Amino acid sequence: MAVGVFDSGLGGLTVLEALLRGLPQVPFVYLGDNAHTPYGVREPDDIFALTCAGVERLWAEGCDLVILACNTASAAALRRMQETWVPPDKRVLGVFVPLIEALTERQWGDNSPPREVAVKHVALFATPATVSSRAFQRELAFRAIGVDVEAQPCGGLVDAIEEGDMILAEALVASHVAALKRRMPHPQAAVLGCTHYPLMEEAFRAALGPAVAVFSQPEIVAESLADYLARRPEMLGPGLTPMFLTTGDPLQVGHAATRFLRRGIRFEAA
Ligand code: DGL
Repeated sequence: MAVGVFDSGLGGLTVLEALLRGLPQVPFVYLGDNAHTPYGVREPDDIFALTCAGVERLWAEGCDLVILACNTASAAALRRMQETWVPPDKRVLGVFVPLIEALTERQWGDNSPPREVAVKHVALFATPATVSSRAFQRELAFRAIGVDVEAQPCGGLVDAIEEGDMILAEALVASHVAALKRRMPHPQAAVLGCTHYPLMEEAFRAALGPAVAVFSQPEIVAESLADYLARRPEMLGPGLTPMFLTTGDPLQVGHAATRFLRRGIRFEAA
C-alpha cells in the first residue's frame, strides 16, 4: 500500500513530513534526485527526462501512485507525463493544483468557470523554471478572475538550502522579497511555490511582514492526498516498506535531511 514521493532533492521532505502526520498508516517511499539538483535552472526536456526516471524507480518499489513533491517538475513536466507517458494503471499527481485550489477556495474536481476570489494580489516565489513555465498563472486562470500575480524567480535559493548554507539562504530570501516588493508593494498573499521554501518559511514571513498571508504547500498537499485516497483506495500500491532513496551520496544526504527535519533519517542509494 505504498505511495511514492519524488523531489529533485531535500525539499520534498517538507511535504513528506505533512503526509506522515496526515496519513500515518501509509508507507511512503521518498526519492530525492540529489545527483541532479537543482531542477529549477534546467530546461523542460531535461526536467521531464529526470522526473520520468525518478517516477519509474518509485513504481519499481511498488508505488503505483507517485506525488511529485516538486513544483518545478509539476510545472515543467507533469502535464506532458500525464498526456504521453503514464500508463493507465499508474498515477502521478503534482503539488501545484492543490495549492491553487486552496488559494481560490475550491474543492477538488470543482471544474466550474473561473470566478472572483477574495485574494487579488498574489506574490509567487518559485524556481526560475517554475516561473518561466507560467503554469501557476495558467492553472489560476482556469479557476479565478481578476487576480494579479507577480512572480519572483528565486535564483540560488535551492542550492543554498541543499548545501546547508542558511546564512546565504536567509540573505537570498530577504533580497528576493525586496525585489518582488519593488514591483508589488502590497501583496495580500504569498505562495511559497517550491517545496524547499517551507524550510525558510520564517525568513519569508519576516521579510514579507504580518499583513501578508503565506500559503505553504505541505499541509495543503497532505489534505488533498487524504481526500484522493479516500476516493481512490485502489491506488495504494503493492509496496509495504517505507524508505528514503537518493541518487546522490546517501550518507551526505542523510546528514542534511537529519539537520533539516531534526530527526534521524537514513537514506539508501536509489
Ligand atoms: N523543490 C523543488 C520545487 O518545488 C525543486 C527545486 C529545484 O530543484 O530547483 O520546485
